[in-house]
Amino acid sequence: MSDKILVIGSSGQIGTELVQNLRDIYGIDNVVASDVKVTEQAKEGPFEVIDVMNAQGLLEIVKRHKINQIYLLAALLSATAEKMPKFGWDLNMQGLFNVLDLAKEKIIQKIYWPSSIAVFGPNTPSINTPQFTIMEPSTVYGISKQAGERWCEYYYNKYGVDVRSLRYPGLIGWKSAPGGGTTDYAVHIFHEALKSGSYECFLSENTTLPMMYMPDAIKATIGIMHADSQKVKIRSSYNLSGFSFSPKEIALEIKKHIPNFSISYKPDSRQQIADSWPKSIDSSEAGKDWGWKPEYDLTGMTNDMLKNLKK
Ligand code: SER
Repeated sequence: MSDKILVIGSSGQIGTELVQNLRDIYGIDNVVASDVKVTEQAKEGPFEVIDVMNAQGLLEIVKRHKINQIYLLAALLSATAEKMPKFGWDLNMQGLFNVLDLAKEKIIQKIYWPSSIAVFGPNTPSINTPQFTIMEPSTVYGISKQAGERWCEYYYNKYGVDVRSLRYPGLIGWKSAPGGGTTDYAVHIFHEALKSGSYECFLSENTTLPMMYMPDAIKATIGIMHADSQKVKIRSSYNLSGFSFSPKEIALEIKKHIPNFSISYKPDSRQQIADSWPKSIDSSEAGKDWGWKPEYDLTGMTNDMLKNLKK
């Protein structure tokens, strides 16, 4: 059977780029984009309005398009979910169940679902955080992602559902905007540097977090989905690493291109979230099992971001 893919939450930060990449591989008509409302993306190829909480509506669209793979990207991120804990939990969990159940019923064959560094918490070893370690997340988002990981593994073990997952670090890209995350500053800083030459950061200067440039995130996502099933040994979610930096360090890197750039710091409620997350991630399991290797570092990412945003 040929692949027919549905991307749910396709107009968000990851979806925008993922849909373009999947369409390059599978062809425009074989990748259906979907979000809770119609967006510009609807002009680029097949598009459906889907509320992932509506299992019946989702089933109808899956059947109509003969979908056999789903990338489920719809979620509330860390900062937004803290403001709406109940809705954050409901959306992040029910959305996942609705998709997992389609695979349990053998209506679809394969699922991609993202987890996050937010599954870790204040008691986790924060440097080179191992794959298997203390987790104890302290945010609604992190709790929902950790529970989701357990359910993915459960559906794999119990029902043979082919679900694959990565614990994304903060993602940085120029094609799309992030929404509601704690790592969003690392995208905003580039836009403000070019627009006004200064940036007020909502995290303190030495807050080091794991990050990744979007081309690497897309490569990892498609990489794990294309890996032989036996090679995907971890069915909860894989640690994934790119590079780590603090606001101070990225500001210095930007200053190499924009010497007058200045940064100031005004930490808000997101500081506490950032403080509970790892500073760096050990992704050797992903390297060993299906060959993960990042390409970009802070310097390479900064060069490429500024080059493209200037255009
Ligand atoms: N970038 C995400 C966030 O900040 C982490 O998964 O919420």
